[in-house]
Amino acid sequence: MGKIQIKIKETVLIYLKKRLKNIVITKSLSRYIDTLDFIKEDRVVRSNYSLVTKDPKFSYQTPFSEIKLIKLLVDLIKAKNILEIGTFKGFTSGYLATSPSVKKVFTCEIDESNIKQAQKLWNSLKVTHKITPLLGLATESMQELIRSKKFFDLIYIDANKNQYDSYFDLSLQLIENEGLILIDNTLWAGLVAEKNTSFSHARLIDKLNKKIAKNNNCESVIIPAWDGLTIVKINKKIK
Ligand SMILES: C[S@@+](CC[C@H](N)C(=O)[O-])C[C@H]1O[C@@H](n2cnc3c(N)ncnc32)[C@H](O)[C@@H]1O
Repeated sequence: MGKIQIKIKETVLIYLKKRLKNIVITKSLSRYIDTLDFIKEDRVVRSNYSLVTKDPKFSYQTPFSEIKLIKLLVDLIKAKNILEIGTFKGFTSGYLATSPSVKKVFTCEIDESNIKQAQKLWNSLKVTHKITPLLGLATESMQELIRSKKFFDLIYIDANKNQYDSYFDLSLQLIENEGLILIDNTLWAGLVAEKNTSFSHARLIDKLNKKIAKNNNCESVIIPAWDGLTIVKINKKIK
């Protein structure tokens, strides 16, 4: 590398550290993080994740480092009951179900073929007995859970972005006192900060972000990694 290139690299690094406080995750850095994250994972976890990476819709899959953070939170709060909105191939629900504290994971999915594939994955992780898939519109499944008086220690929202506001409101009725609601994609590729964006999802998520930030019954933070992950801690039960 020439002297000028090194200088440019250093300048970029200093700029990022001083101004943005965030580093750019390049492909090689992402591979580096994955390598560390998978070091202690067993063969079944690795092979299942690698299988999902070959799916044409792999972009739907929550990145492994993000799932690890979610699992860490599950372990910290010793979550017993988890609800996931948006199953996809079942990796996240399956991986979270491997936590010793977890007794039950409900996961909502509209596409039956995803549930069928997920069931194979859950079998291989030996967690099938802990997971209940709910086929259909997530909003309807959530309303049914409210009617049957189910409560959750942790809810992970990751399905139809048009429905995010309803998912959040319904989650407030399903969450235990001091439980956690996690919401994926809350920075929507950074477009939530663009006032004149033509992306309706970005505008909807921006509205939800503001609504959550103003809610006095919760404490929340947006993690500026991946596509943005909001962590909401419920202070007081809203019923
Ligand atoms: C981003 S993926 C979920 C990824 C998954 N949570 C994970 O960590 O791998 C979104 C999923 O939500 C499902 N979905 C979309 N709209 C839905 C709806 N209205 N009700 C239930 N599921 C829906 C999609 O079929 C898709 O599998």
